[in-house]
Amino acid sequence: MKRIIVLTGAGISAESGLGTFRGSDGLWEGHDVMEVASPEGFAKNPELVLQFYNERRAQARLAQPNPGHLALKQLEEHFEVFIVTQNVDDLHERAGSSQVLHLHGQLTQARSVRDEHTIIEWDEDIHLGDKAPDGAQLRPHIVWFGEAVPMIVEAARLMATADIAIIVGTSLLVYPANTLMDFAKTNIPIYVVDPHKPQFLSVNPVTFYEEKGSTGVPKLVEHLIDTISEEI
Ligand code: OAD
Repeated sequence: MKRIIVLTGAGISAESGLGTFRGSDGLWEGHDVMEVASPEGFAKNPELVLQFYNERRAQARLAQPNPGHLALKQLEEHFEVFIVTQNVDDLHERAGSSQVLHLHGQLTQARSVRDEHTIIEWDEDIHLGDKAPDGAQLRPHIVWFGEAVPMIVEAARLMATADIAIIVGTSLLVYPANTLMDFAKTNIPIYVVDPHKPQFLSVNPVTFYEEKGSTGVPKLVEHLIDTISEEI
């Protein structure tokens, strides 16, 4: 079976009602991103940051996977598929995708402010005073700006094994996720689904579907399945 590595960003969840990051003047749900997604922001106003993620968690719980997520699940019937997502929602999992790597953490997990390795499953609000197993304050397991992205190593290793790569709904503005394509073999095809072409330099053959994920991903999946059938 051919192996497909899919890199997704906020755009794939946009039609499920979850806001993208750079959609409205650099504000994320009305906040400066650095205010709610950086260790400095958390140190300055932990209550605001915890409340912000409590709202995101509640919003994600109510959201449903859209045809873009569902089409990626369907791809598993014909390919070996690994999804590398920058998203902190669990819509890929809820669509049924079986191999999902979260680069930037997950809303349904929490950790100690003292130790990034003490990750626990946590699907409730987090308040000041909620403690991690090590006794320190609990915080969302989200990779904030300026923090390390340990999962990038595994993601890069996966990308290097891809026969086909797909990019959906990401501006490719955030490091190190935006370096992942550099690890792809030079002869493999790359497909990009996004209504606004991300800035993207590659020596690989790149095909753009300049449209929303809910229509573009099902079209791309159909194309890939047809191509495979022709090869057999
Ligand atoms: P961005 O908000 O930077 O980019 C969203 C992308 O989705 C853009 O390229 C849009 O054109 C595209 N888009 C919008 N609507 C779409 C739709 N219906 N279908 C498909 N694409 C659509 O989001 P990311 O690239 O994911 O990190 O941002 C990367 C990281 O920056 C995030 O993971 C987050 C943020 O800071 C953390 O929170 C740690």
